[in-house]
Amino acid sequence: AKINLIIPAAGTGQRMQSEQPKQYLQLNGLSLLGHSVSRFQEWASQYQHTLNTVVVLPKGDTLPSEVVGVVTCTGGASRADSVFAGLKALASLDALSEDWVMVHDAARPLVLATDIERLYQTLVADEVGGILAEPITATVKQAKANVIEKTLNRESLFLAQTPQMFRFGLLMQALIDCDRSQITDEAAAVEGLGLCPKVVLGSRQNIKITVPEDLVFAQSWLKHPSE
Ligand code: C5P
Repeated sequence: AKINLIIPAAGTGQRMQSEQPKQYLQLNGLSLLGHSVSRFQEWASQYQHTLNTVVVLPKGDTLPSEVVGVVTCTGGASRADSVFAGLKALASLDALSEDWVMVHDAARPLVLATDIERLYQTLVADEVGGILAEPITATVKQAKANVIEKTLNRESLFLAQTPQMFRFGLLMQALIDCDRSQITDEAAAVEGLGLCPKVVLGSRQNIKITVPEDLVFAQSWLKHPSE
């Protein structure tokens, strides 16, 4: 099938404590952005999908040379602003309202082709769409000023990952209607329309690189891949 893909890579990566924004950091000789894009390109060729990819970059930046076969656009102040810019770029590439759009963080370089395909196959006939997510194994406390208010029931809690997959027209509407400075994923914008996105089981190795020690995990996963 034909699938539109937006890779938001317009963040500053302040929590990484490095000079470079994290999407350009190297992991085994390839930028995080390069890993993320090539994981999708490998998935598409393995499962015979056609990808239409927009990479959203900080203003004035150019693509690392290893990233090929994509178009670029300039991002905004928040992640949702950057995704919104990506949707507008897809609109000028003739994306249709009913087309599927996947959004995947440049900072999740270890996403597995089997997980992307599970998301796609599980939701392809769905009206709304949904996200990859992992169950929570920790005990989670809700607290204010260091005082525990309650213990949440982890049976019903998930950590949201990307890719997240929604219909083009629906996601555009959701991002027009929501407060883009507040939401941290696409599903939250779609929930804001009163719709119920689905959760599809993802793998734990699909981490988001956020702080320096995450790179150490990523390196060891690349040494001992699960597929
Ligand atoms: O900051 P965070 O880890 O949540 O960023 C997730 C992804 O969103 C990263 O790939 C980052 O580059 C991207 N992003 C963006 N535009 C922003 C902020 C973050 O494209 N303004």
